[in-house]
Amino acid sequence: MKKIIETAFTAAKQVREHAYAPYSGFKVGAALVTKDSGTIYTGCNVENASYGATICAERGAVLQAIALGGPQEYEAIVIVSDDSPPAPPCALCLQVLVEFCSPELEVYLATLNGIEIRYTLKELLPHPFDGSALKTEG
Ligand code: THU
Repeated sequence: MKKIIETAFTAAKQVREHAYAPYSGFKVGAALVTKDSGTIYTGCNVENASYGATICAERGAVLQAIALGGPQEYEAIVIVSDDSPPAPPCALCLQVLVEFCSPELEVYLATLNGIEIRYTLKELLPHPFDGSALKTEG
């Protein structure tokens, strides 16, 4: 396993501790790794009494990346949950990842003990809505 991915695992596990999950009790941490610099952006899930306003950890990491760095190329995301097998990103998060990441983005799923499985983004969401129809004129 590449060192940067191990570092991202540690970062995701740490940020998971900050999750605000009083309704589900299910804490998730995510760490998004940039291609060139190996910068790591993290996110945790933040729940809401309305339930629907809950933000997942993966989207939190993407929002932090955009807010702090602007658009960049991403190599991988590591997601940590206390679930076995480890939880994959929900469909909303996959769609948001597609907006900013290549289909080859590596998606590592981990339990608290370590990374267990690796997918690519295109394996998890092979047919995303890409908005191309929205860009046409007339
Ligand atoms: N959750 C995530 O953070 N990421 C996912 O991709 C799946 C679900 C969170 C949202 C909610 O706070 C809790 O897990 C239970 O659904």
